[in-house]
Amino acid sequence: MGGATRKAPQRALVIHPDIRGRQAARSAEAALAEALSLAVALPGIEVVGGVVVKLPKAQPGRLFGSGKVEELKERIEEDEIELVLIDGPVTPVQQRNLEKDWGVKLLDRTGLILEIFADRARTREGVLQVELAALSYQRTRLVRAWTHLERQRGGLGFVGGPGETQIEADRRAIDEQMVRLRRQLDKVVKTRELHRAARRRVPYPVIALVGYTNAGKSTLFNHLTGADVLAKDMLFATLDPTMRAVVLPGGLSVILSDTVGFISDLPTQLVAAFRATLEEVLEADLILHVRDIAHPETEAQADDVETILRDLGVGKDVPRLELWNKIDLLPDDDGQRTVAQRREGVIAASALTGEGLPELIEAMGRAMGDERRIETVVIDHGEGKARAWAYAEGIVQGEEGLDEGLALTMSWSPRQKRRFESLLTAQPDAEDDALLEDDDDTDSSGGWDPLARDDRKS
Ligand code: GTP
Repeated sequence: MGGATRKAPQRALVIHPDIRGRQAARSAEAALAEALSLAVALPGIEVVGGVVVKLPKAQPGRLFGSGKVEELKERIEEDEIELVLIDGPVTPVQQRNLEKDWGVKLLDRTGLILEIFADRARTREGVLQVELAALSYQRTRLVRAWTHLERQRGGLGFVGGPGETQIEADRRAIDEQMVRLRRQLDKVVKTRELHRAARRRVPYPVIALVGYTNAGKSTLFNHLTGADVLAKDMLFATLDPTMRAVVLPGGLSVILSDTVGFISDLPTQLVAAFRATLEEVLEADLILHVRDIAHPETEAQADDVETILRDLGVGKDVPRLELWNKIDLLPDDDGQRTVAQRREGVIAASALTGEGLPELIEAMGRAMGDERRIETVVIDHGEGKARAWAYAEGIVQGEEGLDEGLALTMSWSPRQKRRFESLLTAQPDAEDDALLEDDDDTDSSGGWDPLARDDRKS
């Protein structure tokens, strides 16, 4: 990617080409609105305006017909536009011609989304995937630029003239870099399981905020991690800036994870990069789907999100909550609020005004604390770490010293039980889940033997 958008704020115009006959699930206006919100999300850009341009068909040389090119040029000069974002594919030839005609920088939809992903990628894998996608995007443009250059140089009569060798060299450099990146990526994917295991040791359940771009995830994230709503706010040094540990008012500690927004019609070469930025979701204990309920296409957006989650491999077993955000934008008598009240797992709120957020927090707590059971376990006296965690988590109802260890009476969810067991030191190499299965296994031959019994109090 050119990095053109990283400098001083650039005045940008967004153009959505509405090409006749091209199948579109959304109206041109809705598509333009989404493109505008994407553009606004880019740092260093001042979005001056957006237009829908109807086209009978895409022109190979300049995308638009000559009359349209002129008309847009006037607008561009009048508004002192420096950057034009075209919400669709633009060939390198079209790009070059329009940049020259208009005296601007031009980015097409793939370029724009790449910029956003580059800005948002947090995990190592995410960063690598975005770089890889950017290089492969650049490479295709290079190849076509080369044919174009070659034509220009046709008269010189050189075989492998200077332009060609330069482009060839650039292409080789890109290829080499891509090979390097793929190798790194392989490594990252191989060690991913290790990272997951490390994350699992973070003793709190993870709530992932997912949703369409502009739905209000970041606003909600900031609100929930703000001191006014929650009792405590700790930042784990080992976690990235989009993950925060917070204590819900009910006393439950959770990690909130903000994710990159979903985008309709994602260019195919960006799918892998997008998925990599969504890694966290696969690890979540609860998925909070944030919806812009005031958006005219809110249903289509929700369907998209569900489809992508399914494709990502997020199982139905992961509990979900749906937040119908931005209710402040709905008229008071709007039916959505009542619908939300009646529907299981749905909360209507406004991340901006704070209305409905206490209910959301309560629902999150409920969703995380489901199926709470009271059990007594006996642990070795040396298991200070697990014991300390249990106290910090607020799940210890009683404690009693026995000859064989400490009897702790817990009120906990299966998840909390799993975390607790993973903290015990004398732990076999078995999978986490395997540890859970045999509640009644009281075999005391191994050092690790938390006895889960409802009856044993003394
Ligand atoms: P991406 O980062 O693109 O995925 O977007 P996001 O989902 O994080 O949305 P963000 O929090 O950036 O909010 C997008 C816009 O919606 C901002 O202008 C917010 O101020 C606005 N917004 C968020 N929540 C609400 C709300 O409850 N009511 C209103 N009126 N506006 C909101």
